[in-house]
Amino acid sequence: MKIVVIGADQGLGEKLCGIIRQKGQQAAAGMYRIENAKNSGAEDGHLLLLTDVTDPDSLQRAADVIRYSWGTADAVVDVAGVLTDGDRTHNLMDIDLQDVRTELEVNAIGVLSAFRAFYPVLNKNGRFVAVTSEGGSFSNKGDMFPSYGISKTAANKIVQILRETVKDVEIMAVHPGRMNTEMGRTTAEIEPEEAAEGIYRIVAGETRLREGLWFIDYKGCEMPL
Ligand SMILES: NC(=O)c1ccc[n+]([C@@H]2O[C@H](COP(=O)([O-])OP(=O)(O)OC[C@H]3O[C@@H](n4cnc5c(N)ncnc54)[C@H](OP(=O)(O)O)[C@@H]3O)[C@@H](O)[C@H]2O)c1
Repeated sequence: MKIVVIGADQGLGEKLCGIIRQKGQQAAAGMYRIENAKNSGAEDGHLLLLTDVTDPDSLQRAADVIRYSWGTADAVVDVAGVLTDGDRTHNLMDIDLQDVRTELEVNAIGVLSAFRAFYPVLNKNGRFVAVTSEGGSFSNKGDMFPSYGISKTAANKIVQILRETVKDVEIMAVHPGRMNTEMGRTTAEIEPEEAAEGIYRIVAGETRLREGLWFIDYKGCEMPL
């Protein structure tokens, strides 16, 4: 399999690239910052891309690299995400609106931009996975990380509407669990390797999914909207 991972600099994205390689499959590591390229596995013959999900031109250039190097990809996983410091410490009444914009831009609009750029190089019946969050569920009633939750709800809605718009690829939203990463260290329950293994199994079709299920956790279980 040939799998593109967007947001491969650290955390889940980095671990997912590692697992793809361990399984003997090909990974294209989409890095946000070129200085993180040492983590990318590029020196082992894997592809290195530069992908800023807030910059459609960078996504287009990366998709062009895939077209010329692989022809098509079997799957694209958009792992890129942000949780701003301001969102950790402020409520929805006093958070700086720039934090809200940044999270919407990366976590929600970024999913749409990534899909638009990579859809033309995805195999028919290929998979596009947006890593969203339980924080995007309406059933999740807390007020922790409020703006992040709003952005992930928007991301889930984008996935739902894309599924109605584009029928020849499989589009999913996946909650990766509460991971021990830079972002999730304060609420962690699992290591990112466990989530990466689960997401690999979903992308590779090893986890059996009920027909029509599109918002799931990394084990393939249905998530509430
Ligand atoms: N950790 C959790 O408990 C948890 C729970 C639910 C959902 N999630 C979601 O899971 C995904 C991975 O999270 P993580 O815990 O691995 O977080 P992380 O360690 O902070 O990794 C996030 C990645 O996204 C990259 N990124 C940031 N802005 C970007 C942009 N504009 N374009 C492209 N990439 C960008 C980051 O690059 P830099 O490192 O260079 O900034 C980093 O590689 C995120 O979508 C997150 O929202 C995480």
